[in-house]
Amino acid sequence: MSRVVVTGRVPEAALEKLRAEHDVDAWTGPGSIGRDELLRRVAGADAIVSLLTERIDGELLDAAGPQLRVVANVAVGYDNIDVPACTERGVIATNTPGVLTEATADIAFGLILSATRRLGEGERLIRSGQEWKWGMFFLLGSSLQGKTLGVVGMGGIGQATARRAKAFGMEIVYQSRSELDPGVAAELGARRVDLDELLAVSDVVSLHCPYGPATHHLIGAGELVAMKESAYLINTARGPIIDEAALAAALGEGQIAGAGLDVFEKEPAVHPGLLELDNVVLVPHLGSATVETRTAMAMLAADNALAVLSGGPPPTPIS
Ligand code: DGY
Repeated sequence: MSRVVVTGRVPEAALEKLRAEHDVDAWTGPGSIGRDELLRRVAGADAIVSLLTERIDGELLDAAGPQLRVVANVAVGYDNIDVPACTERGVIATNTPGVLTEATADIAFGLILSATRRLGEGERLIRSGQEWKWGMFFLLGSSLQGKTLGVVGMGGIGQATARRAKAFGMEIVYQSRSELDPGVAAELGARRVDLDELLAVSDVVSLHCPYGPATHHLIGAGELVAMKESAYLINTARGPIIDEAALAAALGEGQIAGAGLDVFEKEPAVHPGLLELDNVVLVPHLGSATVETRTAMAMLAADNALAVLSGGPPPTPIS
């Protein structure tokens, strides 16, 4: 029997699966586990099932000890894990791609609709008790039909968002490290462009790239100026891909029309400038937040940990 440390609350089905074979120490709250408590608990662990709120770095791996074999992140994004530090110590790191694709694309599209049709503003207005009445020019938004969606990062979630946009009559351009499979590109009618062209032609720019040194502040003051004044920026990937201070300034000055954000640069903090603006929709990192999706993520992470502990290859290693 191996020792498995689970760093936060996960669906019971995944814990049961782990407990059937191993000794499981799962943090059950309240709130997130503190760093000191985490360092203490991982000592002697053979597997760590981690949440994106916990930093898995050299210090933590050393605190766990040389018997540690796998870190199974319950997220597709793994910017909380120092993967080279894992590799140096012979620890396999895994993530949960695929199972959260549709849920995250739903939130991306929800933000596109909320920002372009001013749903947040409308909701706040009604709840404020202010008087309102239907009017020809009341809270006018922007239509999606015939407009262009620019997808930055055309992996699974980018493609799923593009598929939804196509159903809404949008044209698709994308920027990605690699060319789309020709069948998928034809199905979506998607054209690969560089970031400059994408920013210049898109009516909605949606970010779906991974976060790392190469994408830190990928969208800053210069990129915001390069967007159309009528365009919207959507982020369901990771907060620091956008320079949040630059975005608050651009939105305040009307350099772009609006934004929809599910993730934040210094999460859970939100730039105070954004909180004052009506033309940005803010939601608290809900991309994968459905019962079905979170269960599937936790089960996949458990499968990854179990596979490595039994000496086999994990289903979804971080390559
Ligand atoms: C992920 O899996 O990376 C998401 O951000 C979690 O919601």
